[in-house]
Amino acid sequence: MSDETKRDVNQAEFTEDGKYVRKIRSFVRREGRLTKRQSNALENLWSVYGLDHTNGILDISALKPDAKEVVLEIGFGMGKSLVEMAKSAPDTLYIGVEVHRPGVGACIAEADDEGVTNLKVFEFDAVEVLADCIPDESLDRVQLFFPDPWHKKKHHKRRIVKPEFIESIRQKLKVGGVFHMATDWENYSEHMLLEMSEAPGFTNLSDTGDFVPRPDHRPLTKFEQRGHRLGHGVWDLMFAKQ
Ligand SMILES: C[S@@+](CC[C@H](N)C(=O)[O-])C[C@H]1O[C@@H](n2cnc3c(N)ncnc32)[C@H](O)[C@@H]1O
Repeated sequence: MSDETKRDVNQAEFTEDGKYVRKIRSFVRREGRLTKRQSNALENLWSVYGLDHTNGILDISALKPDAKEVVLEIGFGMGKSLVEMAKSAPDTLYIGVEVHRPGVGACIAEADDEGVTNLKVFEFDAVEVLADCIPDESLDRVQLFFPDPWHKKKHHKRRIVKPEFIESIRQKLKVGGVFHMATDWENYSEHMLLEMSEAPGFTNLSDTGDFVPRPDHRPLTKFEQRGHRLGHGVWDLMFAKQ
């Protein structure tokens, strides 16, 4: 399949009457090979950790009836830092969403190794998971750490942080719930700040009206460590739902 055809498949979408519409997604599906550990985890542990988009709206209280908080992480990559966070906050239910299958396999293998039971994952587009599976006003925090920056100007339309996405996050957060973003791409941090400042219904938690220091609950992620090695800065943004 040519790259162009692959891109079309990634962007294809059909309405109920079969009409083709082009959908711009924040990712291009990569056919990464699964390691044995990842494929074993997907096969044997999906019934423990996996959530399926086709099941529709989640009954969050059934997933962890005693959860004190519910956190959704979008684009967790290989999931190492997500598992670390879940392990250090056992009273919190973490729901991860990632489209990269090897990452999903790696995450649940790691969760199992670490004995983590307060974590569930979707292997699906987070935009659709938000729309179809997450109940309104159910989340205490949404985390978006190091989303693909889509550096080139002609690709900026693929950036996940845009008004419709921000509004869907607002709908899913509880009042006072926090949308926490981090990026190592300065131009994307400015874009996030602008879009969030213009979005209705949020208060910036920064004392300086822009960025916040990295909070203790966010471990260094794989991408961040790479960014540090390349000499990049890191910008955290936290906005509370009014
Ligand atoms: C640059 S990586 C960062 C991974 C991780 N957060 C970290 O800091 O190491 C961005 C991740 O977001 C995922 N992603 C992009 N768009 C997504 C979407 N719409 N739904 C779910 N995952 C998405 C990609 O597959 C990729 O793994």
